[in-house]
Formats: sequence, structure tokens, C-alpha cells
Amino acid sequence: MKIDGTHMRTIWTNGDGWSVEVIDQTRLPHVFATVTLRTMADAAHAISAMLVRGAPLIGATAAYGMCLQLREDDSDEAIDAAYETLHATRPTAINLKWALDEMRAALRNVPRGERAARAYERAAEICDEDVEICAAIGRNGLAIIRDIAARKAPGEPVNVLTHCNAGWLATVDWGTATAPIYMAHDEGIKMHVWVDETRPRNQGAALTAFELGHHGVPHTVIPDNSGGHLMQHGEVDMVIVGTDRTTATGDVCNKIGTYLKALAAKDNDVPFYVALPSPTIDFAISDGLREIPIEERPGAEVSRMTGLTRDGRIETVTIVADGSPVANHAFDVTPARLVTGLITEAGVLEANREAIAAAFPERSGGV
Ligand code: MRU
Repeated sequence: MKIDGTHMRTIWTNGDGWSVEVIDQTRLPHVFATVTLRTMADAAHAISAMLVRGAPLIGATAAYGMCLQLREDDSDEAIDAAYETLHATRPTAINLKWALDEMRAALRNVPRGERAARAYERAAEICDEDVEICAAIGRNGLAIIRDIAARKAPGEPVNVLTHCNAGWLATVDWGTATAPIYMAHDEGIKMHVWVDETRPRNQGAALTAFELGHHGVPHTVIPDNSGGHLMQHGEVDMVIVGTDRTTATGDVCNKIGTYLKALAAKDNDVPFYVALPSPTIDFAISDGLREIPIEERPGAEVSRMTGLTRDGRIETVTIVADGSPVANHAFDVTPARLVTGLITEAGVLEANREAIAAAFPERSGGV
């Protein structure tokens, strides 16, 4: 993606060849700043404090976290400890475990002294693979958008509704839900995106809107509760969201509020698509409601909001009545029956065990 004309990824190694640079997403959209990760603890903090977030980028950061550990200590014990620390940073996105397992597998049988170099190699591959996968998701989703565009009246935009940020900031590049949108826009299809603000952390208002704006894609930020109304009035042609973990049977876990959008979409015959790379599929589980751990985050994310004051200061204010308890469930599960299709690198799949297993036979171990 381009920021002010410069092509950027969300994570890269610096000129020193070992320290890792990420964009501090907690400061967007008001300040664009990067942060250097020098230790495994830095990487763990970046994930848990959400300087980086979004399932694929969490995985990529964890992979580099393992590299940073190996620079200091490449013993088996250090690898195991780093695995545990990084794995404990956030519970829901399965890409985290996937990336750590990939790193451990890559290091198997590598002698001490050579492990750090191999780790950096594999982490870079994981990033490159993510870019390739997201580009393929973009191409597969683009075909759906082209079909919808062909049915629209001349001059009418294709209206996509999205929730949270499943854009390039959530991946290494392109994004998942946004990749088809960027590709459609780039080939001249008139697009318009309804961006759910995505309380409590406002990933839509702060990040998706920032991305779309920089790419020149027309968009409108809406309160999270507006989607149903817009769908009832024919203002949404399709929904595309990302996911943090999708079961082998096609249940989709994503940012809290996604389920309500899927219900509204079903009631209004609006196609509801989920864009995902295969590392987001958890082939070990079948029941999203019972088996996916839902992260509960600090209540302060709900009771407070941070924003830019008129005189240019970033300030946090309290918005909840003093003493009222708050709850902050970060994700919810949309049952497969509400999903029109899964846009993956292997094509657009039905959200069921057979279709998913057929698309990824090497990972599913067959149906
Ligand atoms: O809590 P976050 O910001 O990490 O949640 C991110 C999401 O819910 C995304 O939709 C998901 O990770 C997919 S990112 C391609």
C-alpha cells in the first residue's frame, strides 16, 4: 500500500538486518509513526497492547518475535519460552498459533548457531506469503464485485459494508476484506464503502477510513448500529468482513458486532462474504460458538475514548457514568449458515466442512 506515494508494508526488518519496524496503530489516524522492536518482549508488547493488530499481522509479528528471541538465546528452552509468551498475547486470532507453529517447524533439526538466520528467513517468507495470499483473495473477491457492478445502473457505485479493519494494516499488505475493494477501485469500478466505526477501539473509523482515504476509495464512516437500516433501504450491495478464526465447518469469529451485521444481511438478502487467508482456518475445531476463546479486554476501552482536540492535542475522555460497570467482549461468532461465501486464496468457498476441506486438503487432513 502507498502512504504519501511511498510503498509500505506493515512490518519489515531494518537496515541493521535484525531489528523489526512496525507502524504504531494505536496512534492512527492522527499520527503516523513507526516503532522499533528489538526484543521478543517488544514484539509481545506490540501485539498485546495492539500497536499491531489484525490476525495476519499478529502472526507475522509473532514470527519476528521468535527471531528476536533467537538472536539472544537459541536454546530449545528459549524457543519454548518465547512460544509460550508470544502465544499468550492474544487468545482469539489463530494466525498467532499458526505462525508460531510454522517457526517451530522451520527450526526443527537446525543446529544451534544457525537457528536465528533460519528464523529470519522463515519470518520473511511468512510475510511474503501473506502478501501473495491477500492478492489472491483480492482477485477472487474482485470477480464477485464485477458481477454486482454489472447489475448496477450506469454510474451507480457498488456499496460494500465492512466492519473493523481487515485492511492492509491488519495484514502485511493489501488486507483481506479490502483487497477486492482496492482491486475493483483500481480497475475503474465505481466503489463506495460503508465503514462501521467499530466501537470500542474504532478500528473502522481510525484505520479502515485512513486506508481507504489514502487509496482514494470513496467511503462513509457510520455508527455501528446503522448497517441494518442501510440494508433495509437497499444501500448495501454486499458485506465483506475479515475473521480472526474460522472453524473447519465455516463458523466465523470476527470483531464484536459482526454477527449482528450477518443477521441483518440475511434478513435483507444482502450477500455476506468473509475474506480470509487459509492460516485463519482452525482445522482442529468445528463449533465456533463453543470452541473459540473470545478475548475480553479492559473495560477502559469502553468507558473512555481517545481523540484529537481542536487545538491538535490527543486526549482521552471518559464517556460512561461514574461507577457503571462495563463489559468488553472483543469478538463474536457468526454461524456458517449466515455466510454467503468465504473468499480465500483458493477461491470463493461455501462455508461448510466439505468445501473448506476440498480447497485445503493438505491442512484439513481430508473430511
Ligand atoms: O482486535 P483486532 O483489531 O485485532 O481485530 C481485528 C479483526 O477483527 C479483523 O477483522 C481480523 O483480524 C481480520 S484481519 C485481516
